[in-house]
Amino acid sequence: MTQIQPGTLTLDRVSYAVNGKTLVRDISLEVAPGEMIGLLGPNGAGKSSLLRTIYRTNRPSAGRVLINDEDIWKRSASWGARQVGAVLQDMPADFPLTVHDVIAMGRSAHKRLLEPDNDHDRRLIAAALALLQLEPFADRLFRSLSGGERQRVLVARALVQQPSILVLDEPTNHLDIHHQINLLRFVRNLGITVIAALHDLNLAAMFCDRLCLLHNGQMQACGTPESVLSEENLADVFRIDATLTRNPRTGTVWIMPA
Ligand SMILES: Nc1ncnc2c1ncn2[C@@H]1O[C@H](COP(=O)(O)OP(=O)(O)OP(=O)(O)O)[C@@H](O)[C@H]1O
Ligand SMILES: [Mg+2]
Repeated sequence: MTQIQPGTLTLDRVSYAVNGKTLVRDISLEVAPGEMIGLLGPNGAGKSSLLRTIYRTNRPSAGRVLINDEDIWKRSASWGARQVGAVLQDMPADFPLTVHDVIAMGRSAHKRLLEPDNDHDRRLIAAALALLQLEPFADRLFRSLSGGERQRVLVARALVQQPSILVLDEPTNHLDIHHQINLLRFVRNLGITVIAALHDLNLAAMFCDRLCLLHNGQMQACGTPESVLSEENLADVFRIDATLTRNPRTGTVWIMPA
């Protein structure tokens, strides 16, 4: 997995509107190679809508999305698929594929239709199975897995794609606390460029370099966890009354709702 080259992600005044309704408004962000960004915000804030502009599902109504200074919407869909790996909120699972085959699908962006797996593909798939501790599941049907096990398979699929940017939409959904921490630490240590929508503010502060807070489709704040997770922002955006402290072991900001 080490040959993944992290890329630069640039959002340049990105807006996204559908049926005359603007879901994402004028978002600018520069993500450095290897940086991990946590995208925060209440339900309906526009996190998934914004992430879809990066994995080439929502075409921005204004602004540009650039990877390594190339406008992804000016390149082909297959180029985009080689650059961006995505793990999404609710992926359908009602198909008779094994875990191995679901992970192998991650290689399709690099291959012609129906081209068989070569040694390089097989090495990447084996490495991803090992990294995510999925070897015992390789021959199981994907749909027979628990929600958390499926989530790890989808991360493995995104990794074999060897993208320069990894987009995660609530990757810790369905995971128990042990696997939430493991997954975020694992992704953080990959050294790849990551943008992840997260709901657990404390874990986001522990693992992300910067946090960006969306509110009604707009960027309310973006910066260090300390600067973004202020009592004011928590009250304004999440409508909670919270006291801020620090995790005594990690030193990161820790939120205690009242
Ligand atoms: N196709 C659409 N037409 C109209 N409204 C839409 C459409 N898609 C999304 N929305 C609305 O846009 C808003 C933003 O949705 P989005 O899924 O981006 O939110 P989110 O921040 O990811 O929320 P969550 O935390 O619940 O996943 C929501 O109010 C949603 O109902
Ligand atoms: Mg969402």
